[in-house]
Amino acid sequence: MRDLTDENITEVVLKSTANTKNPRFKELFTCLIKHLHEFVREVELTSEEWVAAMDFLYRTGKISTPKRKEFILLSDTLGVSSLVDLINGKGPAGPTETSVLGPFYVEGSKMQEVGGDLKGDNEGEAVVVSGRVATPAGKPIPGALLDIWQTADNGLYENMDPEQPEGNLRCRMLTDTEGRYRFTTIKPVSYKVPEDGPGGDMLLAMGRHAWRPAHIHFIVTAEGYRPLTTELYVDDDKYIEEDAVFGVRKSLVVSFKRNDSPKEAAKYNVKAPFSMVEYDFGLKPVD
Ligand code: BEZ
Ligand code: FE
Repeated sequence: MRDLTDENITEVVLKSTANTKNPRFKELFTCLIKHLHEFVREVELTSEEWVAAMDFLYRTGKISTPKRKEFILLSDTLGVSSLVDLINGKGPAGPTETSVLGPFYVEGSKMQEVGGDLKGDNEGEAVVVSGRVATPAGKPIPGALLDIWQTADNGLYENMDPEQPEGNLRCRMLTDTEGRYRFTTIKPVSYKVPEDGPGGDMLLAMGRHAWRPAHIHFIVTAEGYRPLTTELYVDDDKYIEEDAVFGVRKSLVVSFKRNDSPKEAAKYNVKAPFSMVEYDFGLKPVD
């Protein structure tokens, strides 16, 4: 019979993992058990607090759907998603920095040609976004796939807002023979991450706000290169220094250059005033 005490229980649980086959699984769980036990000891967790924590996780699961990924929201607002990105993004300069995926990505959005339009009937200032996808040495990558999504002027993603047509402000685009991409859209706005679930309760309890600075999401992929999940942020946004999900990186903050010329606007099939953003994405070759 085991004689369990608060002092020996960690060792006993660790021994119970002895037959774990997958070495990485074993490493992850051994470390997780050690840290969880240490956490409970350090804060002297009460039974009531433990029950509240289990209920919090239960509610997080209960509110989650394929369109609402509340666990991702928790990971983002606790800075875990960004820590994983920052650890995995270490390496030589050149490739674009990564940023959080967030819970609102939808696979398989419509394909658009280079120069395509996302703005459609959306309210908001027109913006032309363009640039290239290249290797860290600056060699263009033709046929790279960009997957692009952003919120409408009301701060909502299409899949969270029944008023927006399906696929609004989302598209995929292949770079041309010179590795170039270009699309017209609306200038993104700052918006709040969902506050009506456990993620929001946690922010409130910490006295934090739920705002994200305005941004456009990108996933850039090309054969032979590591997929890049990132975002471009609007430099003059009120929340640029205090993103609720810690996604902003200096290298991803871009200026939206205002252009008042109707003649220039006509070139891109938009109305003046509009703004222009240029950004080159650098992909890392697979190891
Ligand atoms: C987003 O930018 O879509 C997002 C990221 C993290 C949490 C919530 C939303
Ligand atoms: Fe977003």
